[in-house]
Amino acid sequence: MELATALKGQTVQNVIRTVGINPNHWYPIGWADRLKPGQIMPVMIWQQAIAVYRDQEGQLHALEDACPHRGVALHKGKVHGKHIACAYHGWEFDGDTGACAKIPYLPDEQKLPCANARSYPIQEKYNLLWVFPGDAAQVEAHDIPSVPEYGDMGWLMVPVTAHFKAHFTICNENAMDVFHGFLHEELQGWFDPVLLDLKQTEDLVRAEYQVSYKGRLAKFLGLSDRADEVTTLPIAVQYRYPHFASALKGVSSLYLMRSPVSPTESRSFALFFFRVKLPQWLLNPIRPVLSDFIQRFLLQRFLRQDVEMMESEQQAYLRHPSRRYVEINPAILALQRLTVRQYEQFVQQSSHSSGQLQHHNAARSSIGAPSTIEAVMSNAVETPSLEGLGQ
Ligand code: FES
Ligand SMILES: [Fe+2]
Repeated sequence: MELATALKGQTVQNVIRTVGINPNHWYPIGWADRLKPGQIMPVMIWQQAIAVYRDQEGQLHALEDACPHRGVALHKGKVHGKHIACAYHGWEFDGDTGACAKIPYLPDEQKLPCANARSYPIQEKYNLLWVFPGDAAQVEAHDIPSVPEYGDMGWLMVPVTAHFKAHFTICNENAMDVFHGFLHEELQGWFDPVLLDLKQTEDLVRAEYQVSYKGRLAKFLGLSDRADEVTTLPIAVQYRYPHFASALKGVSSLYLMRSPVSPTESRSFALFFFRVKLPQWLLNPIRPVLSDFIQRFLLQRFLRQDVEMMESEQQAYLRHPSRRYVEINPAILALQRLTVRQYEQFVQQSSHSSGQLQHHNAARSSIGAPSTIEAVMSNAVETPSLEGLGQ
């Protein structure tokens, strides 16, 4: 569906900051090459603690990070073959099924008790570890986002990890919001943004903007031949729930994978790709150094400025959760509607007694939020902003 691109003031209420995630998608939790055989990594996806480990054969496993015996965190244990052995009494759990597979002090002739740790689908792709924290029966219906530039030697890849003390919707709005070039003015970011086109579907919002660049950075990135020249380019920002893909035509691409930790904490795993005007023989040996340089001295500087804004936004929300704000970018409003819709869809699909929903409601109530989306949506109709959100 095409949406109007006119910038028009609309009051928004921060009820969007109480929305949970739809866990029936793949979420990234770390870089695959950092988890060696025999290592265990504790992760948190929207308040679900998960112990991720790689067995000696290189296979990945993800189990709920709580021992079915007494609840001790399984990530404190050890990897035994494809089992994980809890640190406390050494009970072992099968990495694939989560079933108790051994109790070191139980006589051989005695049957093992029925004690299962929940297991999660896990896979690695694009050097990222991906976990499906929702209903495992739905896993086949969902794909990891496609990254066609990955492994293509025509691009220089720059991975960036980020951590924010902010709700995932604050982080997502930052990624959709090309109108904040003002913040990065001193770093010679972009200027004169214009929203050209906006589309939304069931699970996607796609905004096409136009932005201008000028300065030494633009020259370094190959956007212009001279530093004092203004270059205007189209930039497409696409949010296919729950991750982003954006492209500055022919110059760079960004895949921004969101990993929501809790109502006040989020992470992201980003893959940037740049076209570099250097012959392969020259570029290949310096790829790691160049990638590291761009990450540290360019992208991290932009990121630090963004993090400060997002965390400030979160703090203001926590101080005054009912305060209303004004938004004029229809792409942000479309993103908010999609986020609410995805959560609502998840709530509808889950039975109210399911463990999944309990986890998610726990996440919401811990910040004093309404405990169900019905509450969110009924608030929604009471305020002009949320009529907008509910569309
Ligand atoms: S608490 Fe894990 S084996 Fe006892
Ligand atoms: Fe930014």
